[in-house]
Amino acid sequence: MREQSRDQYQAIAERLLSANHVVVSTGAGVSKESGVPTFREADGLWSKFRPEELANVDAFIRNPERVWEWYQWRRDLISKVKPNPGHYALVELDTLLNRFTLITQNVDNLHQVAGNEYVVELHGNIQRNKCHKCSKFFEEGSIVFEQGSLPKCDCGGLIRPDVVWFGEMLPEDAIQTAWIAAESCDIFLSIGTSAVVYPAAQLPYIAKDAGAFLVEINPEVTELSPLTDISIREASGVALPKIVAALKDL
Ligand code: APR
Repeated sequence: MREQSRDQYQAIAERLLSANHVVVSTGAGVSKESGVPTFREADGLWSKFRPEELANVDAFIRNPERVWEWYQWRRDLISKVKPNPGHYALVELDTLLNRFTLITQNVDNLHQVAGNEYVVELHGNIQRNKCHKCSKFFEEGSIVFEQGSLPKCDCGGLIRPDVVWFGEMLPEDAIQTAWIAAESCDIFLSIGTSAVVYPAAQLPYIAKDAGAFLVEINPEVTELSPLTDISIREASGVALPKIVAALKDL
C-alpha cells in the first residue's frame, strides 16, 4: 500500500524515528550530484566503456595494463570530487537514529569522506588495492607504478584495485552483514540504484519479506518501484536533506 496522500517526507521521518534499525543501501546515483558518472544511465560508464573489457577477471588477465589505466582514470576523477548534500544527510541520519546500517555498492569512498564511519562495502573500494593471487591488501599510495611494469605483490601476484568485478564473489563479511541487516531492519531505503545487479539487488526484497517498510529514492522508476511503500522521484541530494529536516521537526 503506498502512502501518497500524506507528506512523503513526514511519513518517512516518522518511520525513521520509530524504527529500532534503519538500513540504507546506496548505488551510483547517490554520487551523481558529486560529478561521479553512474553506470546504466544514458550518459553512464557502460554507455562509453565495455564492462567485459574492464571490469572482470578475464579482462585483467588478458590486458592488465588496460584495466589499470581505466581504474587510474576513475581514481583520478574521484580524487577531484566531493561528497554532496545527500552524502552528508546520510551522516546526519547515522548520528540521529538508534541503529543505522549503511550498505553501498559504490567504490568511490564518498560515504567515508562525508563522515560515515561504518560502511558495508559490497563491491569493494577503489582507494584500496589487493594482490590478485594472495589477496594481500595494499593501501592507496603504498604501490609504485614504474614505467612499463605493473605493481606486483611480494608473492609474485599482480596487484589490482580492490573492487568486485563481474562474475566475482562479493566479500563474505560484507554480504553476511548486509543480509543480516536487511532481515532485521524496520525500514529499508534503496537510494540511487537501478536495483538490477545481484546479489546487492536482493537486499530490499529480503527486507520487505521480513516486514520492513520499503522506501526508494530515485528520479527514475526502477524494477523495485512497484514493491516500495514510498518511492520518491527526486535526486538523493535533494530528497535526503528534506528527510533529515522533517526528522528534526518531529
Ligand atoms: N539521486 C538518486 N538516484 C539517481 C540520481 C540522483 N541524483 N541520478 C541518477 N540516479 C539513479 C538512476 O536513475 C539509476 O537508477 O541512480 C541509478 C544508477 O543506476 P546504475 O548506474 O545501474 O548504478 P548502480 O545501481 O549503483 O549499479 C550497481 O553495477 O556496474 C555495476 O559495480 C557496478 O556497483 C555498480 C552496480
